[in-house]
This record gives sequence, structure tokens and C-alpha cells, in this order.
Amino acid sequence: MLREAKIEDAHAIQNLICFYSEDGKMLFRSLAEIEQNIADFMVYEKQDEVIGICSLKFGWDKLVEIRSLGVDPRHHRQGIATEMVQGSIERALLKDDCDTAFVLTYAVPLFTKLGFEIVDKMQLPQKVWNDCQACLHKDNCDETAMSLSLLPLKKQRVLLKNSEEVLYS
Ligand SMILES: CC(C)(COP(=O)(O)OP(=O)(O)OC[C@H]1O[C@@H](n2cnc3c(N)ncnc32)[C@H](O)[C@@H]1OP(=O)(O)O)[C@@H](O)C(=O)NCCC(=O)NCCS
Repeated sequence: MLREAKIEDAHAIQNLICFYSEDGKMLFRSLAEIEQNIADFMVYEKQDEVIGICSLKFGWDKLVEIRSLGVDPRHHRQGIATEMVQGSIERALLKDDCDTAFVLTYAVPLFTKLGFEIVDKMQLPQKVWNDCQACLHKDNCDETAMSLSLLPLKKQRVLLKNSEEVLYS
């Protein structure tokens, strides 16, 4: 089940982040940082265990970054990351001042299937790179930047809402 994270999930979130940050697949985030930003996280829970995490970072102009996406290796290839990214996009669509989602990733096919396109990393605002200072690969970044315009999806939601209002009025 996909749900918004609660403060009680912070340790489980950090365990997954630590697991993947050790070999540089994910940026390390301290427990305090996770707790402070718990509202940005979604978790995927199965039998009372957090087995997937994903967070959003707003504040890069009209961009939102999908970050800290990870799934417990025992549960890979079951569509969990796909569901979490879709849920994160739904959350981003609720923000009026946000028009593009982006990600820096090693899992290009995952995001391609969700409509993201590869973009030149240099198109991202410079301040995005401040966070990369803590990355093991900071001097030799081999992640791919991908982005998805939220505007067509926002228009779709408005049309759907309008047609529902007409239907039920
Ligand atoms: C990348 C990751 C989040 C994918 O999670 P997942 O739940 O297994 O992904 P899904 O089941 O939703 O995968 C859907 C599709 O994405 C693609 N995909 C999944 N994992 C992939 C990977 N590691 N590399 C490339 N493509 C991948 C596949 O096309 C897959 O479809 P298929 O299973 O029918 O072949 C997971 O492997 C993980 O936690 N990796 C380590 C952390 C990491 O790299 N995070 C960065 C992502 S931004």
C-alpha cells in the first residue's frame, strides 16, 4: 500500500537510504534531515513493513525533483517504484506553482515508461547541484537527467473535473 510517510517511518526510511547510499545509488540523508522533511516522503508498506520510499523536493523554481526512490531488493520488479513515482506525480500536480518533474537516475527505462524524457543535465538550475556535493560520484556524475512536463496532466485533471461537475450537476 502506498501512503504518505509518518514520523514513525523515519528509521525505516533511513535504513533503505543507508543501504543504497553505501554504494552510491542514493544520496545519504541523515535521520534528522528525514524527520524534518517527512512530509515530502511517501512510503510503500507491505505487511507492516516499509519496503519502498520516494520523496519530492519542491523549491527549484517551477521544478520538483523526485529523489530518494528505492525499493527493498526482495521486492524488486513488482511495480512498486512505478506506483510510487505515479503517486509522487499526483502529489506534484496538486501544487499550482510546479510545472515540471525531474529526476537524476540510473533507472532510465523505469522513467521512460512513465513518460519522462532525457534532458541535458546542464538545463537544470545550478542550485540543484548543491545537493550533489555529498554524492560519491560528484566529480564523475553518471546519472541521467530526465523530466516530465506536468502541464498536460494538469489540463487533463481540469477537463476531468469540469466534466464530472457537468455530469453530477
Ligand atoms: C530502481 C528501483 C527503484 C526500481 O524499483 P522496482 O520497484 O523494482 O521497479 P518497477 O517494478 O516499478 O519497474 C518497472 C520497470 O522499470 C524498469 N526498471 C526497474 N528497475 C530498473 C533498474 N534498476 N534499472 C533500469 N530499469 C529498471 C523496468 O523496465 C521495469 O519493468 P519490468 O520489470 O517489466 O522489466 C529499484 O531497483 C531500486 O531501489 N534500485 C536502487 C536504488 C536506485 O537506484 N534508486 C534510484 C532510482 S531514481
